[in-house]
Amino acid sequence: MRLVILGGGGFRVPLVYGALLDDRAEGRVTEVVLHDVDAGRLSAVRRVLAEQAAGRPDAPGVTATTDLDEALRGADFVFSAIRVGGLEGRALDERIALAEGVLGQETVGAGGIAYGLRTVPVAVDIAHRVARLAPDAWVINFTNPAGLVTEAMSRHLGDRVIGICDSPVGLGRRIARVLGADPGQAWIDYAGLNHLGWVRALRVGGRDLLPRLLADRELLGSFEEGRLFGAEWLQSLGAIPNEYLHYYYFNRETVAAYRDAERTRGVFLQDQQSRFYAEMADPHAPALELWNRTRAEREATYMAENREAAGAGHRDEDDLSGGYEKVALALMRAIARDERTTLILNVRNRGTLSVLDADAVVEVPCLVDASGAHPVTVDQLAADAAGLVCAVKAVEREVLAAAESGSRGTAVKAFALHPLVDSVNVARRLVDRYTAAHPGLSYLT
Ligand code: G6P
Ligand code: MN
Repeated sequence: MRLVILGGGGFRVPLVYGALLDDRAEGRVTEVVLHDVDAGRLSAVRRVLAEQAAGRPDAPGVTATTDLDEALRGADFVFSAIRVGGLEGRALDERIALAEGVLGQETVGAGGIAYGLRTVPVAVDIAHRVARLAPDAWVINFTNPAGLVTEAMSRHLGDRVIGICDSPVGLGRRIARVLGADPGQAWIDYAGLNHLGWVRALRVGGRDLLPRLLADRELLGSFEEGRLFGAEWLQSLGAIPNEYLHYYYFNRETVAAYRDAERTRGVFLQDQQSRFYAEMADPHAPALELWNRTRAEREATYMAENREAAGAGHRDEDDLSGGYEKVALALMRAIARDERTTLILNVRNRGTLSVLDADAVVEVPCLVDASGAHPVTVDQLAADAAGLVCAVKAVEREVLAAAESGSRGTAVKAFALHPLVDSVNVARRLVDRYTAAHPGLSYLT
């Protein structure tokens, strides 16, 4: 089985390869094709993978190319994990928004819109090529903003593209753990959009354990989201939000904290990763050792500024190991081997959430098998959640429209309609500044 990884020179690729190496079951991936636009990054990551595979005679073979069409031909699965504009672009997204006094973050608010406007045209081009060169392939989209990008691709690939995120499963696992339940046995009722969802129930043997958590302030204070949002607010909400909702519920404080911070997350990662790739320019550099060291630093500070500021503290190591690669592998396995499983994924709504149309990509539990990912019936969204979800979906639709038409006015509309952008004038200036800073936005006229 052939797996193609777009963004194959990316820093997280060794995590995916590590998970593939541990997969011994029949029908596993035997061939990995790495694609990246940057040959230097590609060769750095390839050397890390070669060291990972040392002494493993049945390790999946790895090839690398900068030719996208060549990479896609014959693919069974495509992992799309690209970062258009690189971390430099992310740092600009963050900084320009903060300079306007609004949230500057990778996927949420103004930063996420700028990132989406840059990424959608590239993702659509990939979708067209997949449809032409590997029409039977399944595309697993890691590329952020994941819900929006998955929706853009689904317009060309239908339900053959599935978006993933590690945050819902992590949240479910933490809630199960504080309730003393086995995360593997718990049914997590989670719904919303990517980075905009809520856990409304956690059922074990048909019984909802969440009310017990919501009634117990001490228990609420004993896990990360409990500390992040505060017991009182969670009790008022009656649900446990994804950590990204912190940017909405505590927007003013987050913007102030980010504005005062010495550097944004994007700048931190940019410094750190450019060091890794620069060190790898030495052909004798110990690739895996360097990668491990850089990764440990990255994980230790994962969204740390925000959590620390909110008193949520660090995430334990166990939580860090259940990330994207595990979700992606579980999804790929369920499809390839027809092993029925339930995963929280980004798929077309098809009537699951009544406040959205059938083609809107939502993040909900899905039943996965060889025929793909099928959303499962969940409780409808509460009015406050429905309001936010509809507002943000409307923004996503403006982003998709702007990417298609190249209309600057539509881009302004996308920013202006976002609940975290507080003036149309701010939206106009954001478009001016983002288009001046990002070559990838020159199509907006
Ligand atoms: C989580 C989210 C991802 C996001 C990442 C940011 O894993 O689910 O969508 O990209 O955090 O992490 P970073 O280390 O890049 O700040
Ligand atoms: Mn995510």
